[in-house]
Amino acid sequence: MSKRKCKSNSLSLGECIAKAHMILRARFCHHLPGKPFGLEAQYKNLMDLLKQTAVQGESNSVLIVGPRGVGKTMLLKSVLNELMEMKYVKENLLQVHLNGLLQTDDKVALKEITRQLQLENVVGDKVFGSFAENLAFLLEALKKGNRSNSRPVLFVLDEFDLFAHHKNQTLLYNLLDVAQSAQTPVAVVGLTCRLDVLELLEKRVKSRFSHRQIHLLNAFGFKQYVEMFQQQLILPKEFPDGRFAQEWNQNIQCLCKDKMVEDILQKHFNSSKDFRSLHMLLMLTLSHVTVSNPNIRPTDLLAASRQYMMDSKANVLHEFQNFIQRTTHSMHNFKKPVVLKAFEHLQQLELIKPMDGASLRTHKEYQLVKLLLDSSQIMDALQKYPQCPTDVQLWAASSLD
Ligand SMILES: Nc1ncnc2c1ncn2[C@@H]1O[C@H](COP(=O)(O)OP(=O)(O)OP(=O)(O)O)[C@@H](O)[C@H]1O
Ligand SMILES: [Mg+2]
Repeated sequence: MSKRKCKSNSLSLGECIAKAHMILRARFCHHLPGKPFGLEAQYKNLMDLLKQTAVQGESNSVLIVGPRGVGKTMLLKSVLNELMEMKYVKENLLQVHLNGLLQTDDKVALKEITRQLQLENVVGDKVFGSFAENLAFLLEALKKGNRSNSRPVLFVLDEFDLFAHHKNQTLLYNLLDVAQSAQTPVAVVGLTCRLDVLELLEKRVKSRFSHRQIHLLNAFGFKQYVEMFQQQLILPKEFPDGRFAQEWNQNIQCLCKDKMVEDILQKHFNSSKDFRSLHMLLMLTLSHVTVSNPNIRPTDLLAASRQYMMDSKANVLHEFQNFIQRTTHSMHNFKKPVVLKAFEHLQQLELIKPMDGASLRTHKEYQLVKLLLDSSQIMDALQKYPQCPTDVQLWAASSLD
């Protein structure tokens, strides 16, 4: 890509690159709403279910099950985005979003439900006999003026399995009971990564659940992974500089056919094929794009991949070796507090601990207790250590091979 000024809309190359960075970073950091890739059937399924509640006033309950990063939240968000484009739904549907990591007991959850439904004033200082009474009061308060029409409420329970650990599963029981009895149109959507989630439910809770489950799996092959890689890097048609976008996109297409790129992607695909790790790799790659390097080259991806795969523990060890070397070589500059800090760090990592039997009067002796590193990590660190003493090298060669 030549260094140029775009005459048509006077964007300089620097501005084009800044814009490309902005768009792609937003995509990799998950700030851009969009339809999830490869989940069309699940999308339709969930959309139909939620429409039934939001438009037709039917009650539903469903679980979205899948491993971490597979796109459960994204699927729900994109379905809700589309649903909320309908005027009727926008005006009527109420949403309550709970998370098992935040609402750790049912009392907290009920408070949060009241807050999200903006019913704090209605509840005031009222005292309720039971959880069910309180929930029924909240739902009753949502009824429209003529009291015949109830506004549909969508309850989203993220980390659904954690709610099953609440005492007596009261929240789950009551929500699913309301959904089953169909007095108020309620949709309960649970998101979880536990495949065995139903086993966690008490019998009376289980019997109130509709047993609808939407499963998400990263069930795509390498060809689709490369397609995803390409799609994630392509600049949209609306990019302010058409020529830049065209050249960028052509380069991305060529990139996908490169053998080195294919090998790198294959390695990543084999270790983890979810979107989160792909986005991390792409973010690191994108950081190599500058005015002097306006296109992604295979070597940029290689550098990013090395950075991504870098072993943090081997790095800590290597830095520690460097540090010890520096401090012992310049003993006159010996900074005791710094050494102590490093020593404390090793203790915190549980790499060393005091020997038994040391008394207050004698010097403490430390021993290696728990090697958190495997031998390849130690070898890795030793290879980067230029002045490694010969006896350490010999020890490594004989003991770690
Ligand atoms: N099918 C997909 N198509 C496009 N992007 C996806 C897809 N799946 C996941 N992603 C990307 O990965 C990010 C993580 O996905 P998401 O947060 O939905 O995962 P999750 O299943 O909810 O994970 P967790 O169990 O940790 O909550 C999304 O923000 C999105 O950018
Ligand atoms: Mg999620």
